Amino acid sequence: MSSDTLTVVDNRTGREYTLEIVDGTIRATDLAGITAVEGDGGLMSYDPAYLNTASCRSAITYIDGDAGILRYRGYPIEQVAEHASFLETAYLLLEGELPTASQLATWEADVRTHTYVHTNFAKFLDGFRYDAHPMGMLLGAVGALSTFYPDAKQIGDRESRYLQRVRLMAKLPTIAAWVFRHSRGLPFVYPRNDLDYIGNFVNMTFEIGGRHEPNPVLQRSLEILLILHADHEQNCSTSAVRSVGSSNVDPFSAVSAGIAALYGPLHGGANEAVLRMLDEIGDVAHVPEFIEHVKGGGGRLMGFGHRVYKSYDPRAKLIKQVADQVFEQTGLNPKLEIALELERIALEDEYFVSRKLYPNVDFYSGLIYQAMGYPTDYFTVLFALGRLPGWIAQWEEMLVDPATKIARPRQTYVGPDVRDFVPMDQRA
Ligand code: ACO
Repeated sequence: MSSDTLTVVDNRTGREYTLEIVDGTIRATDLAGITAVEGDGGLMSYDPAYLNTASCRSAITYIDGDAGILRYRGYPIEQVAEHASFLETAYLLLEGELPTASQLATWEADVRTHTYVHTNFAKFLDGFRYDAHPMGMLLGAVGALSTFYPDAKQIGDRESRYLQRVRLMAKLPTIAAWVFRHSRGLPFVYPRNDLDYIGNFVNMTFEIGGRHEPNPVLQRSLEILLILHADHEQNCSTSAVRSVGSSNVDPFSAVSAGIAALYGPLHGGANEAVLRMLDEIGDVAHVPEFIEHVKGGGGRLMGFGHRVYKSYDPRAKLIKQVADQVFEQTGLNPKLEIALELERIALEDEYFVSRKLYPNVDFYSGLIYQAMGYPTDYFTVLFALGRLPGWIAQWEEMLVDPATKIARPRQTYVGPDVRDFVPMDQRA
């Protein structure tokens, strides 16, 4: 018998089963053959939050949460963040290899060609209330892109997929910048294709009266933050993109599902929640009291903890370096002092140490975005800009994987047994 197998005994029947092990997994569908009585459908695995279930085979991102390792297509995140541009990182994630100079030039030119959005988009965004949350606008707007590009339904066509990939990468910064302008009541600024990807986005957000003085340190810092967020294997939003995409819907709709998932405070919304938490604490002197409040079950220390990382999130380490560079330019942020004190105490406190709770990517990113001039409720939009290449790469990988079927989990039914309908006049 091959050693790559698992032998289990069903104590209900005494029968023994041998299940194949491939890449450290057994197939949940193999459990269906383990039956107690004929016709019971066999065993299922119960894993409500996919805590220990691989939902796909992926060659994009590798994470070792215990060792604090993150790699894109095999390249350590530290090296990618130091040497690559954001579009180069996107190419790596999407194509699987680093681009040559001419491949990168073509990719950049293709993206540059598609930065404009249909003029109706301005009207569409104008329809949102003045105080609409930027993430709500972004997810609605990206979903609406599907109505502008019905050809995106041709998901089986490689060339069409490439075009949608380019459109998404090119238009998301424009939409994100316009969402920012809408929130502030400022007129929309059109893309400037003489600028690079980041420079164009920053210009579209901050230009006033035709003028904006770019700060290269802040732009490179923003670019590094986007690179650090570019993919993170099967997180909540990526699973949403894959799951929704498995219905063969167009990529704009699938990505808008990812944006919806990212919006939540336990996922991308955490950086916004960190800033609100720092505001609530108010002063470094209140930190010990706040820590006690968290330990007593009064809430979570936002920006701490991660489903996969049970040591320091490698992205958080890099973000701290970026924070130093940014604060050198913008001056110290008083909230940083509170954040540093929270981190110092939490890293020593038994409650956090025993639960392996370390700062995650969101702990410092909000402070940096705020120093750059972005309002708190806009932070997650920046996360979405960064995560976009990962979502598209994972969507395409899912589509071309012959093992893909429409996502359709099972359940264990725990509701009432069959009973007769009770007419209204007989109900208690
Ligand atoms: N503050 C205080 N306690 C925490 C925190 C936290 N941030 N995170 C987890 N815990 C505690 C839980 O209360 C639990 O304690 P218990 O065993 O005594 O009940 C234990 O640690 C395990 O927590 P789980 O909820 O089981 O951990 P899970 O892996 O499901 O959650 C999550 C991960 C959602 C990220 C969680 O740590 C959290 O809510 N963190 C705060 C929100 C946040 O920063 N999210 C951003 C994540 S990174 C990202 O999405 C980009």
